[in-house]
Amino acid sequence: MDLEGKVAVVTGATGGIGQAICRLFRAHGASVIGIHKHSKRKDEVEPGIDYVISTVTDYDEIGQVVGEIIEKYGKIDILVNNAGINRDALTKDMTEKQFDEVIATNLKGAWNVTRFVGPHMQKNHGGSIINISSVVGVYGNVGQSNYAASKAGLVGMTKCWAKEFAGREGNVRVNCISPGFIKTHMLDSIPEHVLDGIRGKIVLGRMGEPAEIAEAVLFLASDRSSYITGANINANGGMAL
Ligand SMILES: NC(=O)c1ccc[n+]([C@@H]2O[C@H](COP(=O)([O-])OP(=O)(O)OC[C@H]3O[C@@H](n4cnc5c(N)ncnc54)[C@H](O)[C@@H]3O)[C@@H](O)[C@H]2O)c1
Repeated sequence: MDLEGKVAVVTGATGGIGQAICRLFRAHGASVIGIHKHSKRKDEVEPGIDYVISTVTDYDEIGQVVGEIIEKYGKIDILVNNAGINRDALTKDMTEKQFDEVIATNLKGAWNVTRFVGPHMQKNHGGSIINISSVVGVYGNVGQSNYAASKAGLVGMTKCWAKEFAGREGNVRVNCISPGFIKTHMLDSIPEHVLDGIRGKIVLGRMGEPAEIAEAVLFLASDRSSYITGANINANGGMAL
């Protein structure tokens, strides 16, 4: 199996996409630690996953969690920065709190975790980091200036980290995936007529499934993508082509 013997950390593990990633990683032989913010419902739990409740927004706490994972499992081979939130509003109506919360979780949160995991991978001479950005970070969207800023920032950080952590041996890779609209609770706040309009712009004519994003993450996590780093893969069904 592609990930036999690997230790993988997935943030936002109880959400639609995080759960699909955890399931697929486990099925491919990895030990999987899932970090999530809230206590989990029964239908969000995957068998065989080691769940940790923590928030990626707390630098000190996440540093401690990463340290405990390394102590327990001996290493971290794969990190998926997937935790994310949206607080949508037109910029003229958006509160400062809405802006700050999204940046703190989606952008700074990914930085917080990687700040501890990246140097560990470098020291351990290997690893793969995958950041979950969004089609909105690449193309923009009305009412999502905070979200778009956080996701575009992730694409930029991906390229910085690809250069910083590769080291002389080039054994640490950092990549990004920008999903289109995927069927999870994140879409619950979008009115149906808006979703219909979005569907009309997707070449494949439908929203994506969380499992389809997980497959792309698995590819970047495994050695099958051994010569790919600093990339951003659009997984959006041909949206905005
Ligand atoms: N669903 C989509 O259409 C879509 C499209 C593009 C990108 N994305 C991105 O994919 C990722 C996963 O989205 P999803 O649709 O599965 O969302 P979701 O709402 O179903 O899940 C979000 C997950 O993030 C966790 N989380 C939120 N704040 C956190 C924090 N501070 N610390 C730790 N965990 C936290 C939640 O506990 C949950 O597990 C997000 O980064 C999202 O921005 C989603």
